Amino acid sequence: MADEVLNGDPLLATEYPPKGEKEAIDKIIGLLKERLEKDYPPPKRTRRDAHPKQHGLVKAEFTVSDNIAPELKVGLFAKPETYKSWIRLSNLNGGGSPDISKDSRGLAIKLMGVPGTKLLEDELNATTQDFVFMSTDHFVTKDVAGFARLLKAVNGGKLKAILYFATHLKLFKLFTGINIQVSNLFQIPWGSTTPYLYGDRAVKYALIPKQKPTATIPTGDDISDNYLRERMVENLSKGDVYFDFCIQLQVDAKTMPIEDPRVIWDKNKSPFIKVATVKIMKQVFDTPAQQLYGDQLSFTPWHSLPEHRPLGGINRGRKAIYSTMSKFRHKRNNEVSKEPTTWKNFD
Ligand code: HEM
Repeated sequence: MADEVLNGDPLLATEYPPKGEKEAIDKIIGLLKERLEKDYPPPKRTRRDAHPKQHGLVKAEFTVSDNIAPELKVGLFAKPETYKSWIRLSNLNGGGSPDISKDSRGLAIKLMGVPGTKLLEDELNATTQDFVFMSTDHFVTKDVAGFARLLKAVNGGKLKAILYFATHLKLFKLFTGINIQVSNLFQIPWGSTTPYLYGDRAVKYALIPKQKPTATIPTGDDISDNYLRERMVENLSKGDVYFDFCIQLQVDAKTMPIEDPRVIWDKNKSPFIKVATVKIMKQVFDTPAQQLYGDQLSFTPWHSLPEHRPLGGINRGRKAIYSTMSKFRHKRNNEVSKEPTTWKNFD
């Protein structure tokens, strides 16, 4: 726990930045740039450092519920509205890695047409609000300093990584816990893992699928490397797909900390509450042009209204890390990242 808290109980929805955070963030940025330069020598196209394998970029509608309790009608969720959105689905590991490998999966939503000044100083007038999820309910390190140490070990090659995990068993357990096989990206729950403001409260987010979990992990000798995308294509050729977008309120600052996303907030203490519906419409999405467009977009939890500001050290770090790394890869590709204002058609 951060030094400031040692003298008293932590407060709800309150951040406690530890010493040395800025240095750790700079270190992470340096290590990530190094890795991109190594992995993508020109003329190779530079991909995202994390979540480069894109299963698809799909059109979706995000509809704020009309029956939200009055005290939860906050920010984006103040009134019922439907927002055109893009959703990008990904694997954490690189493009060459087959979907059957144990990995962490990503789902990032970008709502468009959201009024109000946003948080990023160089994108104050953007009309986008992003929500970023992983296929898990916890993160692997408490803070950016821990993440910087992990990254350094992993960047140092297999042997260094094995040694690091062997001497950090709790981290190893958390790491193996988030690296999973999945059967169908539309049939698993998604978690924000890190907390966010919700007005003057703190919440974590979850996306809960409405589809029944009917899919199974493929077996045999001829499993397609891209079966997750192929299943998305098949599902969306047949009909719409739905998720409940839910919040979980922080009700206890000690057992539901802001500064440690390794800790899963207890659902018995504070159950998830639905505040919106995500509808991914029946569509064709897997064209080369749409895939490239998804690769060029930038998602960050800091594309946000102030009412939903990211909280906690990992999220504070993500502010500079995502902006810097997105600009870095766009520059290497001679492209400019621009927030979209509506859907684009590619056929
Ligand atoms: C210190 C911790 C973290 C670091 C250093 C980090 C780093 C990154 C970077 C560099 C990118 C690519 C940005 C770009 O080029 O546009 C990225 C994307 C992503 N990150 Fe993180 N990340 C961290 C924590 C998290 C957490 C807690 C989550 C949980 C939801 C998460 C989920 C994702 C997802 C889903 C994407 C892909 C977004 C997209 O589709 O564009 N990351 N991350």
